[in-house]
Amino acid sequence: MKALLCTQFGGLNRLELKEVAPPTPGPGQLRIAVKAASLNFPDALMVQGLYQIKPALPFSPGSEFSGLVVEVGSAVKRYRVGDRVIAFGLGGFAEQALADAERCMPLPLGMDFEVGAALILTYCTSLRGLKDRGRIQAGETLLVLGAAGGVGAAAVEIGRALGARVIACASSEEKLAFCRELGADETIDYTKEKLRDRVLALTDGLGVDLVYDPVGGPLTEQALRATAWGGRLLVIGFAAGEIPKIALNLCLLKERALVGVYWGDSLKHDPASHERNVAQLLAWIANGKIRPRISERVPLAAVPALMARMAARQIMGKAIVLPEAA
Ligand SMILES: NC(=O)c1ccc[n+]([C@@H]2O[C@H](COP(=O)([O-])OP(=O)(O)OC[C@H]3O[C@@H](n4cnc5c(N)ncnc54)[C@H](OP(=O)(O)O)[C@@H]3O)[C@@H](O)[C@H]2O)c1
Repeated sequence: MKALLCTQFGGLNRLELKEVAPPTPGPGQLRIAVKAASLNFPDALMVQGLYQIKPALPFSPGSEFSGLVVEVGSAVKRYRVGDRVIAFGLGGFAEQALADAERCMPLPLGMDFEVGAALILTYCTSLRGLKDRGRIQAGETLLVLGAAGGVGAAAVEIGRALGARVIACASSEEKLAFCRELGADETIDYTKEKLRDRVLALTDGLGVDLVYDPVGGPLTEQALRATAWGGRLLVIGFAAGEIPKIALNLCLLKERALVGVYWGDSLKHDPASHERNVAQLLAWIANGKIRPRISERVPLAAVPALMARMAARQIMGKAIVLPEAA
């Protein structure tokens, strides 16, 4: 089978497309014929050795995928060969991949493989952040940074679904138009406008209640300064490459809070909320309140170039990898 392999950490051009033997599942695992995988920011960090998790070499990246079960580990009771599943783990940028059965879920009836591969990581992160960690309330104002990216776009849609007024921020008019199509009420180009000034102008000088921040860098402090009394800032990630250092007097002054979000680890610590959130997302998909936006589809050989474009801020919504495509 074909697999994209990371044999050494480093530049994206070191990834190699190779012919390898299909993997053998352990007792609690499934072997899955991958029909679609989605690219997430951590995938590109991981192959460069820049992510908090460093898998043993060699490995195939690709943390989120969907496909057909082709082999079932001896201890797995819930799945059978032929089942359609969504999986979260590693190895999705290959024709076949292993996944722990407990990190899989059935692909809902009527959902196609591409949507299944684009759903869990970004939407669960954003729902975990906005609802469980940010305690967002209907009628509150939400500021989303990097709002045309993977987790940002999900935050815009979920913010609207939870009844918030959403101000979406991104770096170009094309991205802002995309955010309006997602449902954003207002948009700000933070490369051209002063973030705090524009936010205050849009909120009668009060500021926003909640910030969703997957970008980091200097924008974090600007966004925190644009929050209202009792405002919260969700620390989602640092796509800008810089972890900001914040003076804590900014929290004292308006009783603001900085709130961390780590969806992957929250599965261990709060599995019940994950179950509830997945059920909520499926209900919203069914009634059309949310819809993953797939902006492009590429074969395995094009993944390094796709990762480079993600690092260059050139992807909107979700990009899908199709391992069977030539
Ligand atoms: N905490 C969690 O549980 C969790 C879960 C998933 C992802 N994350 C993190 O969230 C972040 C975003 O992930 P994603 O999948 O949404 O990525 P993405 O699709 O690439 O979106 C990131 C956005 O960040 C903005 N950005 C600003 N400066 C950037 C730079 N120098 N390089 C790249 N992007 C830049 C871009 O928007 P503009 O061009 O409009 O500024 C881009 O659309 C990552 O740091 C990821 O590790 C965290």
